Amino acid sequence: MSAGVDLDSVSANFGSFRAVDCVTIHIRPGEFFSFLGPSGCGKTTILRMISGFINPSEGKISIGGQDMRGIRPNQRPTALIFQNLALFPLMPVWENIAFGLEVRGVDRKERRAKAEELLRLVDLPGAGEKSIAQLSGGQKQRVAIARALAVEPQVMLLDEPLSALDLKLRQHMRAELRAIQKRTNVTFVYITHDQGEALAMSDRVGVMSHGKLQQVAVPQEIYNSPANGFVASFVGENNIFSGRIGSVSGNAAQFETTIGTFKAMVGPNAERAASAKLYVRPEHARLVSQRINGENAIPVEVADVAFEGNFISIQARDPGGRILVSEARNDGQASVPSRGEKLLMVFDPQRAVILADETPMLSAASG
Ligand SMILES: Nc1ncnc2c1ncn2[C@@H]1O[C@H](COP(=O)(O)OP(=O)(O)OP(=O)(O)O)[C@@H](O)[C@H]1O
Ligand SMILES: [Mg+2]
Repeated sequence: MSAGVDLDSVSANFGSFRAVDCVTIHIRPGEFFSFLGPSGCGKTTILRMISGFINPSEGKISIGGQDMRGIRPNQRPTALIFQNLALFPLMPVWENIAFGLEVRGVDRKERRAKAEELLRLVDLPGAGEKSIAQLSGGQKQRVAIARALAVEPQVMLLDEPLSALDLKLRQHMRAELRAIQKRTNVTFVYITHDQGEALAMSDRVGVMSHGKLQQVAVPQEIYNSPANGFVASFVGENNIFSGRIGSVSGNAAQFETTIGTFKAMVGPNAERAASAKLYVRPEHARLVSQRINGENAIPVEVADVAFEGNFISIQARDPGGRILVSEARNDGQASVPSRGEKLLMVFDPQRAVILADETPMLSAASG
C-alpha cells in the first residue's frame, strides 16, 4: 500500500521568518521523491509538516487524498527516519524492528516472524539476534528502515538518512534504498542536500532555495534543463558568464559579455528576468587550437590540468583573467594540453543556456 502526498500552497512561518514559502507539489503514490537544497532552505520543515509534528501556517496537506488537518503524527500513515537513527542499543536487532508492533499489541511469535521477513527485505537475513553494537553503519541504517517499514506505512519520510555514513557506504546504500523502495512500493519522500544522492535515487526531484520550490522534474531534466540559475549552479558544475541578452531569434539569443558576444539558448523566463547569466557545463566546453564553424570561441591560456583517470579537467584563464573549466572524458587517446598553452575554449550554442537568476513565480510547480 502506498499513498500520494499533496502539498497545496503550503507555507511555514517561524515568527516573521518564512521557512517554507508557498510550496505546491503532488507526490505520486509509490514515487521516490526527493527534496534537494542547501542547508536551511526548509527541507526538514516540510517533512515535519507532512509527518504532523508541526502545522502549516498556510495551505493544506493531504495524504492518500485525505486532508491531514487535525490528524496527529501517530495517526498518520507515515514513518520517519532521521540521520540519527535512534535505535535501542540494549535490544537485539529483531526487537528493534518489531518495537512498533509490540506497541500495537502484536504477540511475540508474530513479531519475530515479521522481523525476520523485514530482515530479508533489507538484505540482513538471520541478523535478528545480533546486538546493535555488532552492526556496521550501513547495517544499522537498514535496521532503521526495517523498523520503519514494520508498521506498514504508506509514506516513508527520510531526513538525510545517509549523511552520517562514509562516502563508499553512502553510495552503496543509495542503490540499496532505491531497491527497497521499489520492492515495497511505499512512497518515499527523501530529503538531502547531496545532489548526487537525489539524482541517483529519485523518480523526481524538487530543488529548493529559501523555502521556495525552484524546479520539479526527473533527474535528467534537472541536470540537462535547469529552470533557473540557482538550479544550474546548485546541481553540477557550470562556467557562468555575466552579461545581458542582445538580439533574440526564436529560442536563441546573442549574449553580450565583457569578453565577447556568444550565441546561446534562452532558458525559461530569462528574457523577462531582471537579471540573467550564461551557463556552460564543463563537459560541453572543449579546448581546441582552431575555431570551429558555428561554435562560440573564447581565447584562453591553460592554467592547470588535472588528470582524474576517467576524465581530464582543465582550468583555463579567459581574457578577463577568470578561470573557466573544461572537462573531457579520457578515451585513452586525448592529448592533454600543458600549462601556459594558448588555445580556444569552444562550446556549441545548443549547449549554452541563458538562465534567469531566479524564477519570479513558479506556479506550475506541481505535476
Ligand atoms: N522551530 C523553529 N523556530 C525558528 N526557526 C526555525 C525553526 N525550525 C527551523 N527554523 C528555521 O527555518 C529554516 C529552515 O530550517 P530547516 O530545518 O527546514 O532547514 P533544512 O533545509 O532542513 O536545513 P539542513 O539541511 O541544515 O537540515 C532555517 O533557517 C531554520 O533556522
Ligand atoms: Mg534538515
